[in-house]
Amino acid sequence: MTRAEIDRVLAELKELKCKTEKEVEEARVRFLGKKGEITALFEAFREVSREQKAEFGRPLNELKQAALARIEELKASAAGSASAEGPAQDLSLPGEQFELGSRHPVSIVRQEIVDIFRKFGYDVAEGPEIEDDYHVFEALNFPPNHPARDMQDTFFISAGHLNPLLLRTHTSSVQVRTMEKMPLPIRVVCPGRVFRNEAISARAHCIFHQIEGLYIDEHVTFADLKQAILLFAREMFGADAQIRMRPSFFPFTEPSAEVDVSCNICHGKGCNICKGTGWLEIMGCGMVDPNVLEASGIDSKKYSGFAFGMGLERIAMLKWQVNDLRHYFENDLRFLHEFEAATEV
Ligand code: DAH
Repeated sequence: MTRAEIDRVLAELKELKCKTEKEVEEARVRFLGKKGEITALFEAFREVSREQKAEFGRPLNELKQAALARIEELKASAAGSASAEGPAQDLSLPGEQFELGSRHPVSIVRQEIVDIFRKFGYDVAEGPEIEDDYHVFEALNFPPNHPARDMQDTFFISAGHLNPLLLRTHTSSVQVRTMEKMPLPIRVVCPGRVFRNEAISARAHCIFHQIEGLYIDEHVTFADLKQAILLFAREMFGADAQIRMRPSFFPFTEPSAEVDVSCNICHGKGCNICKGTGWLEIMGCGMVDPNVLEASGIDSKKYSGFAFGMGLERIAMLKWQVNDLRHYFENDLRFLHEFEAATEV
């Protein structure tokens, strides 16, 4: 064994060129295989004298490391290119185009509503989706055996406690959380996801979205509520939108009303969207019940307020005449792409 032999193999390795993975494998066998050149040098090394071992040990190991690294390098570049006969990559081709998504109709509507109320001076507040009975029902003046607490409507997480955990059935729970922690006066909208134990159909789903509004200050009256809703309806549905209020009942508001907006499709003439009435129901609202204010430590003699709540899927349905609630949850790209034009990028 001589130093020249080691240097020769090292030089050969440096010169080595392989186009295909098969050629790299052949080179590996030639240098490092059982009968390979480097393997042979190692065998010869076993026979040499002690002095020579000291002389050749290190260069021989370095040669082996260099060979392993070179083979890896060749393997990587052969894998990157097509087979020797295959076409070379054309690096001047344009890159793959990313398809830009569009915003979901429920997000678009939520943003629009939040923006309108922001203009009126409202903040945005959020609360947890996993709630407790107190914030979803009790603090909102639901009597203990109110049917809304029923297992058929509510997804309970832990039953049997005095204050069981559950998935919130409406965003009115965020009203309570806001009253508990925000200083007065309060002006907030609370968008969020809600859950109800409903059979899924064109008109009902077990997951949907609501936006809640709450305004509390001194001397807030039903006239303020009506004005706020009218201004909202005109921003949302057009300057000529009309509203009407029908008496209703919610445990947390007194008096309560259901709000209809004039049908923006037939403009009151009557069509199949408004079922011939000329009106579309958009939300529930009312004056916050004094019991609800007091439950959260607000003096109902000094303060009054109004609240409202609407379903985002419903508003989106009216806006774009979507006839089946299930479309919102299926993520069918053909449906989602319909909203590209409405997506601000
Ligand atoms: N929480 C009610 C629902 O889920 C909607 C609602 C009605 C909210 C009247 C309110 C309100 O704040 O005043 O059906």
